[in-house]
Amino acid sequence: MSSKPPPATVVAAGAATHHADGKASGRMLRLVDVRKSYRVGPVTSEVLQGVNLDVSAGELVSIMGPSGSGKTTLMNIIGLLDRPSAGACFLKGRDVAKLGDDELSTLRNEHIGFVFQSFHLLPQLTALENVCLPLVYRGVARADMAEQAHALLEHIGMGNRTHHRPDQLSGGQKQRVAIARALAGAPALLLADEPTGALDADTAAGIMALLRQLNTEQGVTILIITHDPLVARQCARQVRIREGTLVEAKARPAADGGPRPPASRPDATRTATVEPRA
Ligand SMILES: Nc1ncnc2c1ncn2[C@@H]1O[C@H](COP(=O)(O)OP(=O)(O)OP(=O)(O)O)[C@@H](O)[C@H]1O
Ligand SMILES: [Mg+2]
Repeated sequence: MSSKPPPATVVAAGAATHHADGKASGRMLRLVDVRKSYRVGPVTSEVLQGVNLDVSAGELVSIMGPSGSGKTTLMNIIGLLDRPSAGACFLKGRDVAKLGDDELSTLRNEHIGFVFQSFHLLPQLTALENVCLPLVYRGVARADMAEQAHALLEHIGMGNRTHHRPDQLSGGQKQRVAIARALAGAPALLLADEPTGALDADTAAGIMALLRQLNTEQGVTILIITHDPLVARQCARQVRIREGTLVEAKARPAADGGPRPPASRPDATRTATVEPRA
């Protein structure tokens, strides 16, 4: 993977919360007593049982929890792909329950990038075309689209696979295309569900370096769902899903001297269940 940062036009463009120095400010996300239950036949599963979470713009947060504990369910709610059964969700201060489907789509397209656990690449499109997709939804001009998508694929070490379709790529290569696509359009909030799950250790380290660079240099707010403690440790803030709720884990410095909790978050050990509804 290349170590040079993506072109400024690719990553830094657009996101309104970003300052010129790449830092971001304000609250990105607030969940208040979010619940989600699923009913299958006669059985109802209470997956999320009162999740509270505040994420400031510019944070890098890992979410860990056992398989089936509700991580993807939570990501889908945060990403405006699903609605909670109860509770409130605010994205950039907007109460998303008050928004219709079209408004949700607009908010999602403008602000959120996704790396899905199962990639969700469109099989009939090439790597380049898959990465272009978010730019299509944003109305970016065709020539600019290809240039930006190409730059992202180059950056992620996939510059020589731009015309391959997903079935012509390995699992790790698909994962990298999915990450390039998530970065297209410079989202302010990046939601990544097991972004390194399919990768070898070296490629995974490269992906984490890229995500950390996006966070520290471009101010992108990033939530990473992971089973890998090594990935979690590289995030300044770590939370766990436990019995349907979120608990803050004590942040430990990364072994490589990586990021520590920022000075403005000396309370990284607190439980994430605090503030009353705004
Ligand atoms: N659409 C659905 N209908 C019914 N049950 C669902 C649905 N989606 C998820 N569930 C259930 O909700 C629970 C949480 O699922 P989820 O995918 O959020 O887990 P996860 O923490 O992401 O797990 P993993 O680490 O294996 O990806 C599971 O028990 C699952 O069976
Ligand atoms: Mg999952």
